[in-house]
Amino acid sequence: MSGSGGGAAGCPFADGTVPLSGPRFHTDPAGLYRDMRREHGAVVPVELLGGLPAWLVIGYRELLRVTGDPELFSRDSGLWNQWDAVPPDWPLLPMIGRNQPSILYTVGTRHHRRARMICDALEAVDPIELARHTERIADSLVDDFCRKGETELISTYAMLLPVLVLARLYGFPDVEGPGLARALNDMIDGGEDAFAGQQHLAASMHRLVASRRAEPARDVVSRMLAHQPQEFTDEEILQDLMVMTAAGHQPTADWIGNSVRLMLTDDRFAASLAAGRNSTGEAMNEVLWEDTPTQNVAGRWAARDTQLAGRHIRAGDMLLLGLAAANGDPSVHAGAGAGPGPHDGLRGGNHAFFSFGHGEHRCPFPAQEIAEVIARTGIEVLLDRLPDIDLAVPAASLVRRPSPWLRGMAALPVRFTPTPARGGM
Ligand code: HEM
Repeated sequence: MSGSGGGAAGCPFADGTVPLSGPRFHTDPAGLYRDMRREHGAVVPVELLGGLPAWLVIGYRELLRVTGDPELFSRDSGLWNQWDAVPPDWPLLPMIGRNQPSILYTVGTRHHRRARMICDALEAVDPIELARHTERIADSLVDDFCRKGETELISTYAMLLPVLVLARLYGFPDVEGPGLARALNDMIDGGEDAFAGQQHLAASMHRLVASRRAEPARDVVSRMLAHQPQEFTDEEILQDLMVMTAAGHQPTADWIGNSVRLMLTDDRFAASLAAGRNSTGEAMNEVLWEDTPTQNVAGRWAARDTQLAGRHIRAGDMLLLGLAAANGDPSVHAGAGAGPGPHDGLRGGNHAFFSFGHGEHRCPFPAQEIAEVIARTGIEVLLDRLPDIDLAVPAASLVRRPSPWLRGMAALPVRFTPTPARGGM
């Protein structure tokens, strides 16, 4: 058994349940999922913080089945059969979403109409204008550090760009951008400023929705409000705006960070780094297969007793979507005996990864396109402005944030030849 980090010798899952925590989620996820698959098959009994049980679905076909059948595997977290055991201060509560009236936990025809409203509002974003905005904001971020010859890319670039671009699309005035970015990143960090960050975001969103109700403009929030007026309350629009900001920002930031890491550490990209534009798309696609920001997602809840990969799933059981593990499921990759690799039949330019989910609750297609433009433009601007960018530390010393959910770099220190700022935004 390869089982690094598995504890004592022998099976790392000896008690039959896998804790959804521990260093292997960030140090060796591929090895961890390989061990889980061997010990448990496609559907793994896991234990969440506080000992609460769930199923982690790591088989590609099983995940297709779960995400493709929203009636049997519902997004309604109210169905959970463990609510009586959940303490009021359970840290995962915000992620499981009881009583959160956002699109994430809405089901059936109301979900269809709500997804339509969000899709229409995002679809009207002009991709050329979006790329231009992203370029300008990216240039101004690079201006802040380009004369220094070194920076830490995650905090000074990747974790700022998506939220600043999204804020502008949604309709926030540019002057509010930096405050929103700080508040959102504080909330994501979960430290002592997290609550103040959430309050700041909620108050700003409240102001924006009220001002667009009074006076619509050419932005996403105005279009959401104009969509079948009266159908959704301001409270629902606010909840969705929070999802579109938080769920849009962090994975896009991690997509930038993970792709730049790949390009700076893998020899296959080194040769073409100077001609970065050609290899950026390739690196970004490989990241969605091999190193997806969205590693595991909570969740779905069984509407009735059923069977999945030989497991008896009881009504109300929680299922977690093992997106990263399903992407690496050897049974769906060409030459399965050889194991998955970036150049096997299913990968390359193929987009059949689970990183954006699947089925009715997948990431809306226009949101995926917006994420792609932001990430690609952000990486291209970086490589254009700092053509000799290189890691400032040994690759082996780079670490990920400790999390079984979202996968991203803790830090990415780089150096480059100092260059003048361009100015303007
Ligand atoms: C790399 C970037 C992104 C990734 C990897 C990603 C991934 C995902 C995934 C996996 C889901 C599905 C969750 C589930 O099935 O339960 C999802 C849902 C969603 N995403 Fe994204 N996302 C990204 C960017 C964005 C952006 C930029 C936006 C907004 C502009 C956005 C808006 C949403 C919304 C509204 C949903 C909820 C859909 C529903 O429940 O019907 N995402 N995303």
